[in-house]
Amino acid sequence: MFSGQDSEIGQAKSAMINAREKLILEMRIITKMDLVLTMLNGFLITGVVGLAIWLWVGGHATAGMVAAASALVLRLNAMIGWIMWAVTGLFRELGVVREGMETIAQPIELVDAPDAKPLELFRSKIDFRSVTHRYGRDNGGLDCLDLTINHGEKVGLVGRSGAGKSTLVKLLLRLYDTESGQILIDDQDIAQVTQDSLRNHIGMVQQDSSLLHRSIRENIGYGRSGASDAENALAAARAHATDFIAELVDKDGKT
Ligand SMILES: Nc1ncnc2c1ncn2[C@@H]1O[C@H](COP(=O)(O)OP(=O)(O)OP(=O)(O)O)[C@@H](O)[C@H]1O
Ligand SMILES: [Mg+2]
Repeated sequence: MFSGQDSEIGQAKSAMINAREKLILEMRIITKMDLVLTMLNGFLITGVVGLAIWLWVGGHATAGMVAAASALVLRLNAMIGWIMWAVTGLFRELGVVREGMETIAQPIELVDAPDAKPLELFRSKIDFRSVTHRYGRDNGGLDCLDLTINHGEKVGLVGRSGAGKSTLVKLLLRLYDTESGQILIDDQDIAQVTQDSLRNHIGMVQQDSSLLHRSIRENIGYGRSGASDAENALAAARAHATDFIAELVDKDGKT
């Protein structure tokens, strides 16, 4: 694992060289822009102030006008760089907003059926009926799978990587709608019940588990808000987690 020291150093070096080259290019553009801006500013100052003085000499403008025009031009000269960066910043932020919208402003396609009812459990029997799901492809995935899991049964799914084990669980959670076939829990089609009530009845332990950023008590009681401390403690004991929870220390030093 990670034993390729030389190639890693080579990778890091080429990334740094690449970043440096890009930075040099960027700095060149900025230098050119600064030069052009300074020249334009020079023309502006000499043009306006020169014209004002010329008019004043010819008796067409008062000394006050010359002073006001010069002051305005000098002020503009001081502000022009700032205005340019502000406008650049504005367009950059617009780009960020647009990228963000691509992520958060997607329509939700998997919605509850119009007359969806909450799932009611009697015997917790799960029925997969001719379920086919291939993520829109022609082959692979699940093909006409029939499986009945009765109350209290423990079922292990075994298959090579990519056989569709995780897909089966995802379909049961209705993270996707099946491409064909039905999944029934106690004879209720999971596509016809509310998603909240369906997921409320399912507990899932993943290979990579993670804690939500809140107390251990809230993490344990997540599936049942309002659970008592005794219930949470019992759940922790059942999961053989009491010992390690007792060793945890709060940020403020409390155990
Ligand atoms: N979101 C997805 N979009 C498209 N294809 C997918 C998606 N998720 C899984 N697949 C494909 O569906 C097939 C079944 O994948 P699945 O993750 O269910 O396999 P698995 O049996 O859980 O494998 P593993 O043992 O590696 O966990 C694979 O060919 C996989 O590439
Ligand atoms: Mg899997």
